[in-house]
Amino acid sequence: MVPVDADSRLQLVKHEANVDVPRTPVLNSVTEAAIEQIIKERNFADDLMRHDLLPSRTALFVGPPGVGKTLTARWIAQRLNKTLLTLDLAAVMSSYLGKTGTNIRSVLDYAKSGDCVLFLDEFDAIAKRRDDDAEIGELKRLVNVLLQEIDDWPSSGLLLAATNHGDLLDPAIWRRFDMVVDFPMPSTEAVEVHIRDMLASMDTGEASRKWASKVLSSVWSRYSLSDITRNINQLRRQTLLFKQDLRDSVLEVVRKESLDLPKKEKSAVAINLVRLGMSKREAERLTDIDRRKIVAAPAKRKRPAKTTSGKRSARS
Ligand SMILES: Nc1ncnc2c1ncn2[C@@H]1O[C@H](COP(=O)(O)OP(=O)(O)OP(=O)(O)O)[C@@H](O)[C@H]1O
Ligand SMILES: [Mg+2]
Repeated sequence: MVPVDADSRLQLVKHEANVDVPRTPVLNSVTEAAIEQIIKERNFADDLMRHDLLPSRTALFVGPPGVGKTLTARWIAQRLNKTLLTLDLAAVMSSYLGKTGTNIRSVLDYAKSGDCVLFLDEFDAIAKRRDDDAEIGELKRLVNVLLQEIDDWPSSGLLLAATNHGDLLDPAIWRRFDMVVDFPMPSTEAVEVHIRDMLASMDTGEASRKWASKVLSSVWSRYSLSDITRNINQLRRQTLLFKQDLRDSVLEVVRKESLDLPKKEKSAVAINLVRLGMSKREAERLTDIDRRKIVAAPAKRKRPAKTTSGKRSARS
């Protein structure tokens, strides 16, 4: 039985037997490698055990909002074919911290007894309550409950947690996790891939989708993938319902977004548009950057690799 709150009788944890993630998370290579390792360690746990090793039991995902932490936790449960239990710590923090401790313990006991992935979302919710001096004692007890639970977590299950305020967390908490995985803001290339994936089902030629993803990734460079996903869906609805050409919709976005961009970024967008084949006159109309100033900086000359000290090597 899924544990419930003693007073409200509401379920304390979201229980999903068949997680269905519509698309693979777009991650940078370092994050992706860490996620693949988590999955592989689970799939090859027997091999590890034969060498006296256990798979990582716990992992903390750290990164700004909207970069795919929750999505990736779901993706892992799907790949492992396991039930996902999600405990939203922001929601479970009740005004009575004593009760919160009891609730957290009952969820973790329940999760430990089954073969599942437990996901503690909004993990920093506990740390955020620190501001209130009157609650420090209760809160310390609550953090201790959690630390104890993480320590005791069995290697048969996988515990994942996500936070976007890694700096608020007690170092004692960080140390507890077998792995800490960083989720940085996506690169322009990753955004481009994501946009192209999302446009794939559209009834326009591939060249036009490719152009659209290049243009949009440059104007949306400051947005999270979560915002970009929402914007793309909006754009798809618009082109579909109003039978608008993808190119026209994209140009409308460029015009609108340019209004809010600082001059330097606006200029970069204008240069990019020209690079992608647009006339300087059209780029000026969309971005308000004087067309005589739309000039790409000359490519930087590569410095020769230092040979004596060996300090500048593969990366130069
Ligand atoms: N890396 C990504 N790859 C693909 N889609 C993404 C990615 N990041 C975000 N999205 C899209 O944005 C939605 C919201 O992302 P998600 O909830 O995973 O972000 P989060 O990092 O958990 O944010 P928060 O810190 O606010 O909880 C996803 O369901 C997905 O549609
Ligand atoms: Mg999240």
